Amino acid sequence: MTDDKAVTVLGLGAMGSALAGAFLAAGRPVTVWNRTPGKAGELVARGATEVATAEEAVRASGLVVACLWDHRSVHQTLDPVTGALAGRVVVNLTNGTPGQGRELGGWAGEHGFALLDGGIMAVPPMIGGPGAFVLYSGPEEVFTAHRDALDALGESRYVGSDHGMAALYDIALLSAMYGASMGELHAFAMVRSAGVRAAEFAPLLQRWMAMVGGFHERTAELVDSRDYTRDVVSNLGMQAAAYHNLIDAAHEQGVSPELLAPLYPLMLRRTAEGHGHEDNAGLIELLFTRRSTT
Ligand SMILES: NC(=O)c1ccc[n+]([C@@H]2O[C@H](COP(=O)([O-])OP(=O)(O)OC[C@H]3O[C@@H](n4cnc5c(N)ncnc54)[C@H](OP(=O)(O)O)[C@@H]3O)[C@@H](O)[C@H]2O)c1
Repeated sequence: MTDDKAVTVLGLGAMGSALAGAFLAAGRPVTVWNRTPGKAGELVARGATEVATAEEAVRASGLVVACLWDHRSVHQTLDPVTGALAGRVVVNLTNGTPGQGRELGGWAGEHGFALLDGGIMAVPPMIGGPGAFVLYSGPEEVFTAHRDALDALGESRYVGSDHGMAALYDIALLSAMYGASMGELHAFAMVRSAGVRAAEFAPLLQRWMAMVGGFHERTAELVDSRDYTRDVVSNLGMQAAAYHNLIDAAHEQGVSPELLAPLYPLMLRRTAEGHGHEDNAGLIELLFTRRSTT
């Protein structure tokens, strides 16, 4: 018989340790396991129970949270203990693709346990704090039953019964983050090429990105309507002409334009197809490789 409030955390990397710490802070009995022993000292000092095998860890709680390296490591850890998982709930917070989330959901069903797949939108020090949010998908009744426990990690966001949805949202958000990161690094490289310290430039970058970030709702309206001609103030043709300067300027300054380069041919193609007068949100129409999903 396990304590109803008990939680097991599999994986004590930077993130798994933060998750276990947040469950402890919420007053839950926590059992932890890590492939390589010796990482639980601090958590044990705070009241966690460390066990030597994944099977013991799984048997200790009705709710089992996995935060491992990748999809493969989730199977490597859980395949041998599916017998012990029957009747329990697994919350997989290991980063993966939508397809991997769906595969795990089907695999859990075959073995008689419920699975929520998740995506953590925070770095470890944020876990349990107001800025963190975690995406979940899978059976809604399972999410609802365990929401109280999961809320210890940050704001819990349920995004659908399809097991792939949490990973889809996660990957979409990370894609936007990496796009912004590419722009940030290129911008710093440009100013550094002229001897300007990044710290000096950063406040302007912060201000500019905060302003640019405010356009998402407008872009969303255009994307949803598929009408990119409404209230255009910066048309694509004009932007394509100016974008060439971004690439030329990088060459002039001895900076590789490779982080910027992929957008340019798309701009040219869309303009050549007669959409130069439209908003650049219309570039999205060039991204789909399967017509049926659009
Ligand atoms: N850190 C972040 O900022 C962050 C943010 C959001 C999401 N995430 C996601 O959280 C997950 C964990 O990240 P992390 O930051 O905790 O990584 P980490 O510090 O590198 O830890 C990786 C964990 O995975 C375990 N592991 C690796 N291969 C394994 C295998 N084959 N079988 C069993 N366990 C295995 C490691 O165990 P050993 O100690 O034995 O190597 C360790 O516990 C990843 O999917 C990551 O994408 C991380």
